[in-house]
Amino acid sequence: MEKFIGILTAGGDSPGLNAAIRAIGKTAIASFGMQVIGFRDGFRGLVENRTVRLDQTALSGILTIGGTLLGTSRDKPHRFPMGDQILDMTDTIVDTYHKHHLDVLVCLGGGGTHKNAFRLLQKGLNIITLPKTIDNDLAMTDTTLGFDTALSIATEAIDRLHSTAHSHHRIIVVGVMGHNAGWLALGAGIAGGANVILIPEIPYNVHIVADAIRQRRSSGKNFSIVAIAEGAMSKEEAQALLAATATREKAKTKDEKKKAKAKLIQLKTQQADNTLHLSKQLENMTGLESRVTILGHLQRGGTPSATDRLLATQLGTACTSLIHDENYGVMTALRGKRVEPVRLEEVVGKRKTVPLDHPWIETAQNVGISLGN
Ligand code: F6P
Repeated sequence: MEKFIGILTAGGDSPGLNAAIRAIGKTAIASFGMQVIGFRDGFRGLVENRTVRLDQTALSGILTIGGTLLGTSRDKPHRFPMGDQILDMTDTIVDTYHKHHLDVLVCLGGGGTHKNAFRLLQKGLNIITLPKTIDNDLAMTDTTLGFDTALSIATEAIDRLHSTAHSHHRIIVVGVMGHNAGWLALGAGIAGGANVILIPEIPYNVHIVADAIRQRRSSGKNFSIVAIAEGAMSKEEAQALLAATATREKAKTKDEKKKAKAKLIQLKTQQADNTLHLSKQLENMTGLESRVTILGHLQRGGTPSATDRLLATQLGTACTSLIHDENYGVMTALRGKRVEPVRLEEVVGKRKTVPLDHPWIETAQNVGISLGN
């Protein structure tokens, strides 16, 4: 029987999303005679019933285009902003799904999207997800769509910063995305030849970072590149965050909860300024001039790498085969060279951070990169 597929992209965009949409759609239409529609702007498109027909024409010419032709948002079905209210719109989404006689909803996204997709699965919808995030922090898959491209962009940026840091005898502190995981900063830092790499998994000691830079200077190298992940923290900040989290968990009264939440927000806001703060600290401690480059959304923009196009196409075609087999409630995960279905229960609510025994950590240390610990 002909099947109807709905597709949405949610969370932060990343290169390779269009390639994945194309792969799902082309295989579905050409190999299985299925029909495909897209929902605009993530789960919002299901709440507002805004769709786009994904036929052969719409799917053509999009392989190399960055972003997502469907648009995206970080809206959550169960906490959905409607005017000045926050409402649970899950039932509306379920209605839209049935209105379109969908057999399956395919959700392309990261950790947040997986939580939302899982809630819809629990409401009885057929769901398949594709792992997409430049942060590479989804559990149960070797890698995620967009990571390779972002890694190349961050690496190239670090490459380019070398010559200007060298010419001016400066420290350059490069802020790399990655949310609370250090994959991007560590990978790009090693590949781009950073001298110091700071990641959330290894809280840093600023004195050790300054020492590493001073040692370079004594050996005649008057510049240093410090790659810092946006979630990286000093040892003191990590301890303060741990203590504040414990206080929030123990808080009983409304007032205690409010105070604990305020403290956590204050610490996180402070942490968001870490890159600038670290640059100032290093300047004072080493006597070298320091500058900051925050790569930000540049890492999510533009055309996907060959590796991400291949991954998107492999994940997308595997997804359509799973739909054909009615194997729902799964994420298409890359395991070794193959794409395998993994139950969503095994993915949701877990974050894949860099394990301390990961080979990249040893590799970095072996080539003399300081990890600030
Ligand atoms: O999850 C991808 C990501 O780019 C993270 O690395 C970053 O913390 C976050 O999204 C930024 O989100 P936004 O685009 O909503 O500012």
